[in-house]
Amino acid sequence: MQIRTAQDAPGTVRTGALVVPVFSDGELSGPAKAIDTALDGAIADVLASGEIKGKLCELALIHAKGQPFQRVLVVGLGESAKFEPSMLARYAGAAVRYLGRRNVAEIAVALPPQAASNPIACASFAAEGAISGSFETTSYQEKPDKRMAVTSTTLLSHGLDPAAVETGANRGTIVGDAVNLARRFALTPANDMTPTHLANEATKIAKEVGIAIDVLDEARARAEKMGSFLSVAQGSAQPPKFIVMTYKGDPSSKELLALVGKGITFDTGGISLKPPDRMEEMKYDMSGGAGTIAAMYAIGKLKPKLNVVAIVPATENMPGGKATKPGDIVTAMNGKTIEVINTDAEGRLVLCDALCYAQKLGATKIVDTATLTGACVIALGHAASAVVGNNDAFIEQFVAVSKPTGERYWPMPLYDDYTSAMKSDIADLKNTGGRPAGTLTAGAFLKAFVDEKTPWLHLDIAGTAYLDNESAWQAKGPTGTPVRAFVSLVETLAGSPVVHTNGAAKATV
Ligand code: BES
Ligand code: MN
Ligand code: ZN
Repeated sequence: MQIRTAQDAPGTVRTGALVVPVFSDGELSGPAKAIDTALDGAIADVLASGEIKGKLCELALIHAKGQPFQRVLVVGLGESAKFEPSMLARYAGAAVRYLGRRNVAEIAVALPPQAASNPIACASFAAEGAISGSFETTSYQEKPDKRMAVTSTTLLSHGLDPAAVETGANRGTIVGDAVNLARRFALTPANDMTPTHLANEATKIAKEVGIAIDVLDEARARAEKMGSFLSVAQGSAQPPKFIVMTYKGDPSSKELLALVGKGITFDTGGISLKPPDRMEEMKYDMSGGAGTIAAMYAIGKLKPKLNVVAIVPATENMPGGKATKPGDIVTAMNGKTIEVINTDAEGRLVLCDALCYAQKLGATKIVDTATLTGACVIALGHAASAVVGNNDAFIEQFVAVSKPTGERYWPMPLYDDYTSAMKSDIADLKNTGGRPAGTLTAGAFLKAFVDEKTPWLHLDIAGTAYLDNESAWQAKGPTGTPVRAFVSLVETLAGSPVVHTNGAAKATV
């Protein structure tokens, strides 16, 4: 998808379809009013007839004879007072999906009058949404059943600061491409998306954006004493890869943000084998790793003034002849011993070594992300990811910077009770804490591997990394969570936030 900007007035644009926003309340305004006048009240008619009410992502197509634009797609943005810039990602995404399925190749997207107060963020979201709306899920089909024909989206900056729209469009293009990269990785089936393939893809990205990459193979992981990570890998015929990408945006600073993503390219459960029902979804168990690598693509391109390292422990979790057995005791990089009660609680086993390695590299802040627990889906459904951590100010800051991106994170507690639940009778820790509060006992397990002076967050994205249902603006399947939040966090920590307005985001952690 090509994203361009143009200063033309909406009514003069030569395009396959002109996309204009309407609200569910008040009079027509901005581009909708101008086009309504050019079309003798056709937009007002659509609303007056009740065909659409202007709710978010409601759509109505009008063919426009004798105009430079062949069609007008009216797209609802909901109540005007509740407008938020991130809604423009859904607005543009819905337009691209609707028109893309109807064989329209080139579209022009008008922004609502509200964009004037925040043109960079608004243009960024519109570009991001147009790109993520164009995501194709048909690459394995001989004759794709659902085309996405839109190849070019022009954002109209008429009435806005054109330079700001250009800046926002460039950022949104990068974020949208990163989101789709994460989704592509997650969607790719596990026979293709092996740990080796993921490491190769990360290497390609690192080269493309000019950042450093180091892929530790099994021998090097062993030399680093990553006994917990390797205990998960030993049941698989696929060699594990421990992926480390480093971006130095502020070489004179000692600050280093570590982003850690679970990279289980397939989770069978291991010897504690999962039931077959929906097991195919466990190809998505590397979504955290995919989002982390994709975020590094965006960071490498956006060049914020911050040092960032991404760490993705990648392996399959398989029940091979050499697999870890329930009751086995393994030793993590920091010397702590773990009694493996359930080999299906493998995410924490790979993450704990990655957290240790992040600290070895000098991380001063750490955020990990993982499709870690089914319990998180029970707690929050598919509406939000859970966030826990060891530093309330950091949790608050993360919630504040992620909220305006459209990704949702909901804070949960890490009481000592959950830490107690992870005590083993014969090792330092065990890897499961029973059914109650499964997301939080998992969080408490990870917490034991982070120095308490290092601000750390854990994001459980089990319910948000992929969705069963498509929406007007998003294909079903992988969502690209947490790419948008990671980019926003990095920009904020670098002192160059783009999307947030909340004062809490500026809190010093
Ligand atoms: N990858 C799964 C968690 C998961 C489940 C993600 C469903 C997305 C959808 C994870 O490795 C796992 O199996 N967790 C276990 C932990 C339990 C054994 C303590 C779970 O949630 O059942
Ligand atoms: Mn598992
Ligand atoms: Zn898993």
